[in-house]
Amino acid sequence: MRDLGATRSAFVDAFGPGDGVRTFFAPGRVNLIGDHIDYSGGLVMPIALDRGTLLLARPRTDTALRGVSLDREGMVTADVRDTAFDPAHDWFSYVLGVLHVLGEDGYTLKHGLDILIAGDIPDGAGLSSSASLELAAAVAFDTIGGFGLAATDLALIGQRTENDYIGVSCGIMDQLAVARGRAGHALLMDCADLIVEYVPFPHDQLSLIIANSNHRRSLADSAYNDRRQAVESAAEVMGTTVLVHASLASVEAARSRLNEQEFRRARHTVTEQARVVAAAAALRSGDFAELGALMRASHESLRDDFDVTGPQLDALAEAAWAQSGVIGARMTGAGFGGCAVVLAEPGREDEVIAGIDAAYFPVTGLHADCFVVGSDDGARELLDGASG
Ligand code: GLA
Repeated sequence: MRDLGATRSAFVDAFGPGDGVRTFFAPGRVNLIGDHIDYSGGLVMPIALDRGTLLLARPRTDTALRGVSLDREGMVTADVRDTAFDPAHDWFSYVLGVLHVLGEDGYTLKHGLDILIAGDIPDGAGLSSSASLELAAAVAFDTIGGFGLAATDLALIGQRTENDYIGVSCGIMDQLAVARGRAGHALLMDCADLIVEYVPFPHDQLSLIIANSNHRRSLADSAYNDRRQAVESAAEVMGTTVLVHASLASVEAARSRLNEQEFRRARHTVTEQARVVAAAAALRSGDFAELGALMRASHESLRDDFDVTGPQLDALAEAAWAQSGVIGARMTGAGFGGCAVVLAEPGREDEVIAGIDAAYFPVTGLHADCFVVGSDDGARELLDGASG
């Protein structure tokens, strides 16, 4: 999390002194296992991070909305009575979009706000910086407006913002993980009924490392939507509405009716679901060798059957698998670039991080930025004196 004191003085620099500034935080997320199955109603197992988006907000007496981001130049202005999409609003669209979607459900603000945001997760890296911003805004509007919405409702508002306002057809995993995170736990989330089970994550036995490939991806890329479409058409050919519940045998039996892509996308969907179930059991029982093997199999399936890894993420995963202190590693999130998640033996982080970069750089010409992360609770207001 960015420094609270510095962020509060940046707010005063941007908008002037005065009382009534409230502070909100929404984490980013890393997905331990279970990628590209949330939109099929599958089980996924992310962790909410101790990095994310700080959002400071102060009510105004008029209806203006003003936004400043510590990572961008200038100030964006809008009005609570006109939240229509406008590309000129840039990053502030994620904030305005949340207000727009809330408005569709009858939740409106009577007054404007001055808003400052400060994030510490790289955007476009597969760590859900956009869901983090959406949920920071959602929790701020909900609290300031007194709407009384539950965390899962706010996650759905965030997803609608992404789907209908921003125009990215993502599933619910990111917003739900950011809304419902819990420190010291992985979240076993059922993306069909939105039930979250908390699985203890022993940070003292598993060091959680993010490795950024520094190859940028774009989620809006039509490649993401193409994957969804192939999965949906495979389900249709197989006559099932919930592909994750089909068996591998039934996918194989349908092979002659599916085209090659649909077949491989469907095979990833059903095998990934089984890996998530097994990974949750392995995490619970402390069988970390099994957890690591499942993470590797997940990466290989995303590479061979889902075609979303690409040369950089493959090189990064190979680099991690080659380190003796690594328990497990795989790409995380949508893929096409971005980050890998690495589990390492505690105490060996420096050696693992240096080893990954030394193996990755010669293959790609890019440096891997690796950092150890912790877990955190979901999106919330930080009350005075609280830092987390
Ligand atoms: C992105 C989307 C999620 C999910 C992942 C892949 O992060 O926002 O809904 O589909 O990709 O698991």
